[in-house]
Parts: sequence; C-alpha cells; structure tokens
Amino acid sequence: MKDLFARDLHRFHRFSIRFNDILVDFSKNIITEQTLSLLISLARRLDLSGAVDKMFSGELINATENRAVLHTALRNKGNFPVLFQGQDVMPGVKRVLAKMKQFSREIDLGKLRGYTGKAINTFVNIGIGGSDLGPLMVTESLRPFARKGVSVYFVSNIDGTHLAEILKNINPETTLFLVASKTFTTQETMTNAHSAREWFLSHAGDKAHIEKHFVAISTNASAVDAFGISPANRFEFWDWVGGRYSLWSAIGLSIVCYVGYDHFDALLRGGYEMDEHFRTTPLEKNIPVVLALIGVWYNNFFGAHTEAILPYDQYMHRFPAYFQQANMESNGKSIDRSGKKVVYHTGPIIWGEPGTNGQHAFYQLIHQGTRMVPADFLAPALSHNPMGAHHEILLSNFFAQTEALLSGRDEQAVIREMKDAGGNSLSLETLVPHRVFQGNRPTNSILFKQLTPRILGSLIAMYEHKIFTQGVIWNIFSFDQWGVELGKDLARKILPELGTPDAVTNHDSSTNGLINTFKSMVRG
Ligand code: F6P
Repeated sequence: MKDLFARDLHRFHRFSIRFNDILVDFSKNIITEQTLSLLISLARRLDLSGAVDKMFSGELINATENRAVLHTALRNKGNFPVLFQGQDVMPGVKRVLAKMKQFSREIDLGKLRGYTGKAINTFVNIGIGGSDLGPLMVTESLRPFARKGVSVYFVSNIDGTHLAEILKNINPETTLFLVASKTFTTQETMTNAHSAREWFLSHAGDKAHIEKHFVAISTNASAVDAFGISPANRFEFWDWVGGRYSLWSAIGLSIVCYVGYDHFDALLRGGYEMDEHFRTTPLEKNIPVVLALIGVWYNNFFGAHTEAILPYDQYMHRFPAYFQQANMESNGKSIDRSGKKVVYHTGPIIWGEPGTNGQHAFYQLIHQGTRMVPADFLAPALSHNPMGAHHEILLSNFFAQTEALLSGRDEQAVIREMKDAGGNSLSLETLVPHRVFQGNRPTNSILFKQLTPRILGSLIAMYEHKIFTQGVIWNIFSFDQWGVELGKDLARKILPELGTPDAVTNHDSSTNGLINTFKSMVRG
C-alpha cells in the first residue's frame, strides 16, 4: 500500500467517496483501480443491480421463508408507492408511524400516565436479537437527543439477573414496558414479559392497570391478545420486516419514547437517503457496494476471517454488537441459493469495541499478529461533549491508527529510533524484530460530521446494504436464520429434564455429564 500511495499522489481522491456529511476513505486498502474494476465486473456478472431492484420492489427474495424484504419501505420518504403482492404497503407504514407520533406527543404533553396518575417517565424494552440490539444501539447512540427526565432500559437475556437488576431501579407507577417481539413467541422475551407483568401486578394489584403499563410491538396480533395487551396498545409491523432490520419499524418505539418522534423521523430520513444512494448510484461510486466488494476481496482472496468495526465515539459502543447480529445472522450461511454447499467462505466474523479502549486491548494483534484483520474506523468530526482536548486527542488516535496500520515501521526506522533513544547493541539485536511493524494492514475510515439521528440512519443503512451486496456475491440467502433453530429445539427438550431427580442418559456423554453434575450441584 505504501508503494501505491507513493506512486499516486491523488490516491485519497480516487479512493474515497463523500456522501452528505459522511466521508468514506477506502484508499488504505490493498487495491488498485484494476482490483476495483474487476470486483465491480464480478458484481455485474452476478446482476447486483437486478437483485437490488428485486429487494426494493418487494419480490420474495427471502425465498426460504417465502417473504419479501422491505425494511426500506419503513423509511421511504420518497412519496412513491411500494408494492407487495400488488398492494401498496405505504398507507400501513404511515398509519403505524402516525400512531408512534401520537404516542410521542402524549409523552411530551405528560398525558401518558400510570395507574396512580403519575406521568410515565421510564421505558423498559423487553426483546432480544433484532428486537433489542437495534433500539438499544440507537438509543445509546442518540443519548444527547434524549428527552429530559426520561430513562430507557433494555431487558433481553433470559438470565433473570438482567430483569432483576432493572426492576431494582424502576418505579412500577411510572414505568411502561414495551414488549417487542416480531413473533411474540420467543422464549426469552415471553418469559421476561411474564415476569415483568407479575412484578407489576405485585405492586399494582388489579389486572385492569396493565393497559397503562404494557404495550406490544409485534406482527402476531393473536399472541398479543392472549398476553392481555389490547389492540389499542399494539403497534404492528409486517412479515416483510426482518428481525435484524426492524429498528425502523414500530420496534423503534423505545427510540421514539427516548428521543422523541422528530429525531426518529430524522433517523428514517438518513436511512432513506442512503437507500437512494444505494439504489441509484453507479457501482463504482456506490458506498455500500464498494465496502462490500472490498470485504469480499479480503474474505475470499486473502483468507481474512474477521472484520473489525471500531467506532471512535463512546455513544456508538453497541454499534459493533448490532452489526455482529446483522452481518453474522444474515451471511453466516454455507448453502447457496441452489441448495448446494458453497466452496468459498461467506460472512466473516464481526467484532469490535469503541476506540480508544480497543487500542489498549486487542489492537496489538491487528498491528502485529499473524492474521489480517480488515477494520472500519468510524469517527465524528464534532463531539457532543467538547471538553478540553478530549476530542482532538481521540481523533488524533483515529488518524494515527490507520496511518500506522498502513505504513508500519521497518527495521531501519526501529534501529534509528532505538539508537536515538540510547539503546545498547544487545537490546538492539534482541528487540528490533519485536518492534517492527509490517504495515500494509487494510482499513476503511468513515469520518462524519457529528453523530446526529440523520447521519446515524445513513450509517446503519450503509452497513445493511453492504451485507445485502455480499449476500448477492456469495449467492446465499441473507434474510433467513435457520442456524438459530437447533439450539432452541434442544433447549426445549432439555428444560423438562432439569426438573426431574433422575440422571439423564439420552445425550452424548459430555451433555449427560454436564446435566447430571448440574443436578447434583443444585441438590447440594
Ligand atoms: O435469534 C433469532 C431471532 O429470530 C432473530 O432473528 C430475531 O431478531 C430474534 O430472534 C427475536 O425474534 P422476535 O422478534 O420474534 O422475538
């Protein structure tokens, strides 16, 4: 890469794209113009543009679930119809958005009151996976925009500790539970929701009070009824919204409660703007496409196993976790669209932590380990919390890390530096190889003006479309998640076995041994 930069003084301009207030610099990659044009030919051969049209026009591209993939309709600000099986979905989308807006108004006006007449000021989202990570990541990212005096909590884990610790901090009189589940059958969510209801009733007494303290967000109206939540308190969405793409739907109600409807609307607008960019921009200048192809380049031509997402913004601390689900649940597949086993690698392992914490934890391996870890560095130009030199120091690290990963430090430079520092010849000989940085380690830098709802919306949609594009290249179905089923089935079978006194013998010896030891530990 150093040679490529030396040969071409305009490399940054050639290999970066500006979109609204976002700059995507992909010049620090092991690519030439020829690499990109070959990768783009690959995308053309696989009819990426046709696939994009199919998604936006509501075809049943989630073929293994016989569903369309229309989360883009949820943020469609274009005033054009989106047809699903001949019907425009936009009136339904707008109806639910209007209901969310009205709900938000009631919070603003202090009209949302609990069973003792006190204003609701605490919102607890109960959900898991896409019904948790999206709203959690967004509410954390948009903390500077939060309503005054309002708090939001997220319960996801079936581990009772998660709910118990939150219940310690909240007041039943001023709390609203948002039960968020596309299916309304997910074991973790339903168990947490029932426990929250019991806790609530242990304070409020009368079941009639439930309607002031529980709302549901789901596609499954009958299960919501069965839980005891009235249709007026149900926010619907649709089968064509995938769980991990659902924060744009009513699943985003906790976002609305926390930051208000206008900020949620700005998030949708940012998503829509990226949709339009993705749908209409030539592949060469198309940010999600370029990022996707660069990812394919390392995944399939360099054998990179993982990709790091490294936001230099504390508010974005759940951004890597959110895209861990979005990416790994979407593209963690090994069967292609014709039902055959793929003979190449598909989705990478996604991981990351905010900078600079990551620098003091795992960057050692990124700089000097044996594996290539392509990494995305994200940072805002402006901080929401200007405080002394903090932000300049943060950003100096953001710039320095990708420079270091690109340039490295060769033997001569290490020797020179050590001599200048007065090292003796023995320490020189011993230490030089350890202090050399090979460099040539690829990164993308994504610099944006400030973490606003609109910019966040665009960044999320950017990664969503990257994932979609890679699914097309790898010829896999990105919108199902059959891989989560087996563990769920087995847990369902094991659950009743845990309550019996007898030793189990029907599993492999390890699982038998673990279950039986558990039973003896519990018995004491
Ligand atoms: O983990 C599997 C999964 O189906 C995810 O795709 C989904 O986001 C999550 O479970 C929660 O599902 P639901 O919203 O139906 O409770």
